[in-house]
Amino acid sequence: MNPDLTALLDELATFGDAHDGDPANSASRMLNITPDTGEFLAVLVKATQSRRILEIGTSNGYSTLWLADAAAAIDGAVTTVEVSKDKIALARANFERAGLTGRITQHEGDAGPLLAGLPDAGFDMVFLDSKRSAYLDWWPALRRVLRAGGLLVVDNATSHAHEMAEFTDAVRADTGFTTSLVPVGKGEFLAVKA
Ligand SMILES: C[S@@+](CC[C@H](N)C(=O)[O-])C[C@H]1O[C@@H](n2cnc3c(N)ncnc32)[C@H](O)[C@@H]1O
Repeated sequence: MNPDLTALLDELATFGDAHDGDPANSASRMLNITPDTGEFLAVLVKATQSRRILEIGTSNGYSTLWLADAAAAIDGAVTTVEVSKDKIALARANFERAGLTGRITQHEGDAGPLLAGLPDAGFDMVFLDSKRSAYLDWWPALRRVLRAGGLLVVDNATSHAHEMAEFTDAVRADTGFTTSLVPVGKGEFLAVKA
C-alpha cells in the first residue's frame, strides 16, 4: 500500500477511536471497522478477485478506502451507500485525499431502495456494515445482487451477534450459501454463494 494511504488510514483510525470515545459524539459515531478487519477485507478482495464491490454503510469512508485500494490493484471499483449527509461529505473528502475517487461511487440515502434497484448478479462482493435490524429484510435483495460464487461479508458478527441472529440464521439455513464466522476485529460473517 502506498505510504500516503497508510498514513491516512492510521489518521482515520486514531480519529475514529477518539471521536467515538467521547460521549459528546454519541449521535455521530464513525463506527469504523478495525484496522485488522481492513487488512482482512483487502486480502478477500484480492484473493477472490472481486472487481465489483458493494458496501452498505460508508460512514466517513474508512472501510471503503481499504476496499477501494484493494480493488484498484485488480482494476475494480466500489459502490457505497450511506444515509447520513454529514458522513457522506466526510467520506468524499477522504476519498479525494486518497486519490481514490475514480474507484468509488457514492450513493446517498437508505440502502433498501438502492438495493431494490441494483441488477441481478451485479456484484462479486458485498460488505454489509449498516443498520443491523434491516439485514433480514434486505437479505432477498443481497442474495439477488451477488453473482454465483460471490461473497457476502458482514461486520459486527461477534460484537453484535444477537442483533443479527435472525439474519445469520436465515443465511446459514440457505442451501445456496456456505458460511463461516471469522474472529477478526468485531467478527466477520462470511457467506459465499453457490
Ligand atoms: C458501522 S457504520 C459504517 C462504518 C464503515 N463501514 C467503516 O468501517 O468505516 C454504519 C453506517 O451505516 C449508516 N446507515 C444506517 N442505516 C442505513 C441505511 N438504512 N442505509 C444506508 N446507510 C445506513 C450509518 O449512518 C452509519 O454511518
